Amino acid sequence: MYDWCRTYKYDIERFDLATFIDQSKANETEPNSVGWYLYEDKKDFSKQTELLRHELGLMFDSEIRYMGVWDYYPGFVDSLGPHIDRGDIENAVVFMCPRGELIVTLHDPETKQVLETKKLSGNNIMVLYHTKFMHHIEGVGDLVVFGLPQDFDAEMFFRADGKYFKRHTIDYDVDKLLNEVMELYPSDPDKITTFNYFPMSEGHTEYTFTFDPLPDHMRDAIERTTGEKLVPGITYLSDFRNTATSLDIHKDPRWNALGPIPPLLSMVCLDGYTRFYVWTGRNGTKLLDMCLYGPGDVITFDHTEVFHSADSVLKDRRKRNMQCYSYGNEAVPFVVQYNDWYKKYRPWVEQFVEENNITDSIDWEQPIFTAYDNYVLASISIIDIEGDIGYVRTYDAHKDNTFEIAMRPHVIDWAEDNGLKPMVKREHDGTVVDYAL
Ligand SMILES: [Fe+2]
Ligand SMILES: [Fe+2]
Repeated sequence: MYDWCRTYKYDIERFDLATFIDQSKANETEPNSVGWYLYEDKKDFSKQTELLRHELGLMFDSEIRYMGVWDYYPGFVDSLGPHIDRGDIENAVVFMCPRGELIVTLHDPETKQVLETKKLSGNNIMVLYHTKFMHHIEGVGDLVVFGLPQDFDAEMFFRADGKYFKRHTIDYDVDKLLNEVMELYPSDPDKITTFNYFPMSEGHTEYTFTFDPLPDHMRDAIERTTGEKLVPGITYLSDFRNTATSLDIHKDPRWNALGPIPPLLSMVCLDGYTRFYVWTGRNGTKLLDMCLYGPGDVITFDHTEVFHSADSVLKDRRKRNMQCYSYGNEAVPFVVQYNDWYKKYRPWVEQFVEENNITDSIDWEQPIFTAYDNYVLASISIIDIEGDIGYVRTYDAHKDNTFEIAMRPHVIDWAEDNGLKPMVKREHDGTVVDYAL
């Protein structure tokens, strides 16, 4: 299954294409035999479009094959009607409409019935799978077309998402959101956390701050968009500043230094462009899926289940993402009372130890839980992944990124088989913010 097009917010107004088109039009008044009234092959590209072509090339990981312009003047009728292009030299096309407004329509190839329409104008661009889907264009404006060459992997690019990630467009003005987020940027440098270690690629740095709290209207917009309920207290801004950044292939643990991490991550892209990859394994044995996301795109995926990596595409452009977490379909965890610990869970732990032939001696005098007020962190964490299992406080369990390997199969499966769910309660400024398995 493929999508017929992808749209991106991209500030093409910087390139003043209208002036370029008018200047070129003065030389070339009649459209050529296929309807272009301005056409440049890659061997005779104009200098004026160099930066634009360069950026598009980076975004779509391809060398632009040609640029063409159709003039949809008032009264113009595109006599092609609904059609599928042959694509003699290109695999897909990038459309933009720097002046005027055009409507691109998707048609049923049999009945020609209109299935969907997209508006093209201003700083919106569209990548169209024009060799596979029947389409038609109408309106008044300049249709600027960039051909993506035949080695552009259209099948991967247009693959309908949903298997490994879901993509939405945020139901909120993304420029406004970016401004509002930056107003919350802490002036205190101690509130900015720096990550420059795995999975950040070597020499790359990510700067983050946690929203404290995330304003309700932002939370509402993200929840409306994704259909997922956000876990409060752990939404943060990932700011890659003006550096080239990439993330190496990894799968995130269910726990990190901050405590439990829910399985679903939603990345709200505020600016910049990122190529996001899903892999079969840590060494990237096979690429399963990829997508390009840009301002206003929201990508939701199980970051603890699939191997993933990312590259920022326009290296000199600042890239900022909001990162938010949800439990998705996981059962809503519960909290146990501290006093229940021995009564309820010690037998459970003992049974677990016995059934799994754990030879480590367990020091029952050592806390194997962390207590918050009257509540207990009743989760069981495993630190020794050499083969045997021991219990430690959860925070210690992050010493090694391989934690998830031991944690998931041994404890969670067993707990579920036994109808038990060890839980965590986490607090933030005195308020309960998180209940997690
Ligand atoms: Fe076409
Ligand atoms: Fe990740």
